[in-house]
Amino acid sequence: MTSPVLERYLERTQKSAAAHSKAQAVMPGGNSRQAGYWAPYPLTIERAQGTSLWDLDGHRYLDLINNYTAMVHGHAYPPIVEAVERQIRQGTGWAAGNPAQTRLAGQIAERVPSVEQVRFTNSGTEAGALAFTIARVVTGRQRLLMARYGYHGSLLEFECGSFGREGPATYLARFNDLADFEAVLAEHGNEIAAVFLEPVLGSGGVIPAAPAFLRGVKAAAHKAGALFVLDEVLTLRFAPGGCQAAFDISPDLTMFGKLIGGGFPVGAVGGRAELLRIFDPAEMKVFHTGTFNANPVTMAAGEISLGDLTPERIARMETLCLRLKEGLARAAGKYGLPLSVNHFGSCLNLYFSQTAPESSIVREDAELVGRFHLAAMNHGLFIAPRGMIALSTVYSDALITEVLERADDALCDVAGELGGTLWKRPTADAIP
Ligand SMILES: Cc1ncc(COP(=O)(O)O)c(C=O)c1O
Repeated sequence: MTSPVLERYLERTQKSAAAHSKAQAVMPGGNSRQAGYWAPYPLTIERAQGTSLWDLDGHRYLDLINNYTAMVHGHAYPPIVEAVERQIRQGTGWAAGNPAQTRLAGQIAERVPSVEQVRFTNSGTEAGALAFTIARVVTGRQRLLMARYGYHGSLLEFECGSFGREGPATYLARFNDLADFEAVLAEHGNEIAAVFLEPVLGSGGVIPAAPAFLRGVKAAAHKAGALFVLDEVLTLRFAPGGCQAAFDISPDLTMFGKLIGGGFPVGAVGGRAELLRIFDPAEMKVFHTGTFNANPVTMAAGEISLGDLTPERIARMETLCLRLKEGLARAAGKYGLPLSVNHFGSCLNLYFSQTAPESSIVREDAELVGRFHLAAMNHGLFIAPRGMIALSTVYSDALITEVLERADDALCDVAGELGGTLWKRPTADAIP
């Protein structure tokens, strides 16, 4: 079937197409990151500033995913650029302490209620692996329990669950279904080292947990002798002390990542000193090291990123996101497109169906959302292929107006394709 949306994408992104061909010769599928790929080929971005990205063909995009929430202050945020430049001139890594790591760890411990101490890694995935290691050492057990369609990183033990499959080390239960978690823990509790949960399913489709569900799972995990690990890699952006402060839940361990690196690779596990002491060289129960752990550049950037994420900025992003949600719903209605929007704080997920599915992994609208994704790019909007949006603190009311105008054009194109040709914008008086 011909698709004017696809044709327009192919025509306006020829330099990205050529770059992708070259990349494919030297990297499998042309990349190192599934989330940076979409069919027929992803854009190649040359530079980024504030809310904007520019591709090789010179087109500007308003970035509505912000490296999957990590760039919470947008791109090349001047205070981070300054701090990083200063740090780079002073050196970028050495196998000894650096003052910035102590300051960032202190900041995290001050903001996040359950955290007394922090251990840094280079990604959220590594933070998950480390939390699982701690749980295995502390409990002597080898398996984990997580939500079906939850996401804790690109590790086989977590990924099978993200796609809805149990694995040799992984049990699953339904998100927001306390009885299901209790049943798995009652049956297999003596094998389970830890229960991992996101307080808001991020890649699963922006679905908040009921606080009572989180508290219930924690109690059931403890009854079974397992640790309760809260994954705040994404959700730290929703409240100054993370969702655990907002929801009043105190996990044994917390995973961090994304925004605490200020745009640089990062992860961390936080928790009570009594649990993290297994890494203390005085005890040396677990050997954990990493060439780039807590490297001074990431730490300097992270300090600014976290420090500048004030309650006022979090609230403003939420207000703007709500406006975006309402505007998108209105525009979709105008073109007769079904649209459901999951929303929490500064994030949302779009579904071209009457109701949102249990997860963005299992959805009826995969083709339609893919088409909207390309149409959005044709009109200069950069969103996640699965329809996720995450704002940054540098968005303004005027920029949201611009996003809504561009989204209107993209929705118009998608609606037009459903009729077989590129849809002509209705005149104002033709709109009911
Ligand atoms: C909730 C959650 N946990 C863990 C991770 C993994 O982090 P990273 O991509 O830094 O390995 C992510 C990344 O998207 C995430 O959203």
